[in-house]
Amino acid sequence: MTDIIFEKSIKGMQGVALTDESLDTGFIRSEFLRKEPPVLPEMSELEVMRHFKELSDKNFCVETGFYPLGSCTMKYNPKVNEYLASLEGFTALHPLQSDDDVQGALELMYNLQEALKEITGMDAITLQGSAGAHGELCGMMIVKHYFATKGDSKRTKVIIPDSAHGTNPASAGMCGFEIIKVKSNEKGLVDVEHLKEIFEQNESQIAAIMMTNPNTLGLFEEAILEISKIAHKNGSLLYYDGANLNAVMGITNPKVMGFDIVHLNLHKTFAAPHGGGGPGAGPVGVVEELKEYLPVPVIGLKDGKYFRNYNLKNTIGKIKEFQGNFGVLVKAYAYILMRGNTLKEASCDAVLNANYLKEKLKEDYELPYDYPCMHEFVLSGDRQKACGVHTLEIAKRLMDSKFHPPTVYFPLIVSEAMMIEPTESENKARLDGFIDAMKKIAQEVKENPSEVLSAPHNTPVKRVDETNAARHLDLRYRKE
Ligand SMILES: Cc1ncc(COP(=O)(O)O)c(C=O)c1O
Repeated sequence: MTDIIFEKSIKGMQGVALTDESLDTGFIRSEFLRKEPPVLPEMSELEVMRHFKELSDKNFCVETGFYPLGSCTMKYNPKVNEYLASLEGFTALHPLQSDDDVQGALELMYNLQEALKEITGMDAITLQGSAGAHGELCGMMIVKHYFATKGDSKRTKVIIPDSAHGTNPASAGMCGFEIIKVKSNEKGLVDVEHLKEIFEQNESQIAAIMMTNPNTLGLFEEAILEISKIAHKNGSLLYYDGANLNAVMGITNPKVMGFDIVHLNLHKTFAAPHGGGGPGAGPVGVVEELKEYLPVPVIGLKDGKYFRNYNLKNTIGKIKEFQGNFGVLVKAYAYILMRGNTLKEASCDAVLNANYLKEKLKEDYELPYDYPCMHEFVLSGDRQKACGVHTLEIAKRLMDSKFHPPTVYFPLIVSEAMMIEPTESENKARLDGFIDAMKKIAQEVKENPSEVLSAPHNTPVKRVDETNAARHLDLRYRKE
């Protein structure tokens, strides 16, 4: 373990010396001044640099190695995006400046709205959402308000597939909807017969179906047009969880599939960092009929001037202060411009990489849904479990080979699930390295399971007591 910076402090050591002027506190009222100097670590500049370098070396990121965290699209985030988002012309703006003052920023957001309209096929976009789940919440609020303004109070239920991400039922539940689970069939797709039964039993009480396509098994919902027909025939709306858009950009879009509301994860598909790396953005797109329900402001253009439009007749109000996470919007816009017509290639390569891994790994691991996949696929560790090794241990062992583990134990409908999403960023050599590591683990499980059960061996922190950490989280530092 690394000592924390206070433990490395040596009395009298100094880094940058502050000038007398910078220490001038004359302008602060005396009651606000400290009585005692703060307890700060005393270190030289070099020791500070070493401390933070040591910490950063312990971190794992896409630049460290392969990061196939399924459903998270951990693609490479081009550094030019960071550079552009850090330009003073963007960072020095204040969101309360007038429209006249910030025409450039408004133009960028307007253009991003237009690009996302093109990519999704939707008729209007809000950029306010700050995460995928936040976009879902916004979408569900729109559904609720839409039926309320039509005077239809009977639509209190939302249908969600059993393979869905947990945020889907959570978002719908937060809006007061009752959740009805629709089963997956033997191909891992929505069971259309079951869906029809649900509609028959609940007649005009269904407000919406929330779907992810490709779904969380990485499979394309082939019956999506039929599902859309069923929903619309009953007056329900169809909601698209766009977390998996990286599989279909430029090939098809949610509008073509019959969706009415879409959220996107700019921090996945459009290469803005996420996880520990930064805030996200979850824009929401809607069809013409729902345009007036978006949160305000949306960015408009009139007589050559960009403006924040607060004037939407049925708006759900605000879901986030100002216009959303502006820095993330800049990064995503930079990525879209840089990719241009090659957005489609990103999706094609992501799908190719996933199918390559799937075909190679299904020899050693159970593949419960053995069909061509989209940008990700889900293996089961059931074969290894029969030898006493669980998926969690396989994930830990992978870390010894400097690979980030895949998403594990999700989706819930696959036992001992390992959800693998390579993204388009990886080359064949890197994929082959991952295949070798996974095959080696499968071999170890058969021949020397203790090596896997005791993993990880090479990481700064070994096994942690996850149950204890979850139940009795204690992150306080206690000075000796
Ligand atoms: C399918 C799916 N939907 C929704 C979300 C929620 O997105 P966010 O983490 O940005 O809130 C995720 C996140 O992993 C996801 O995979």
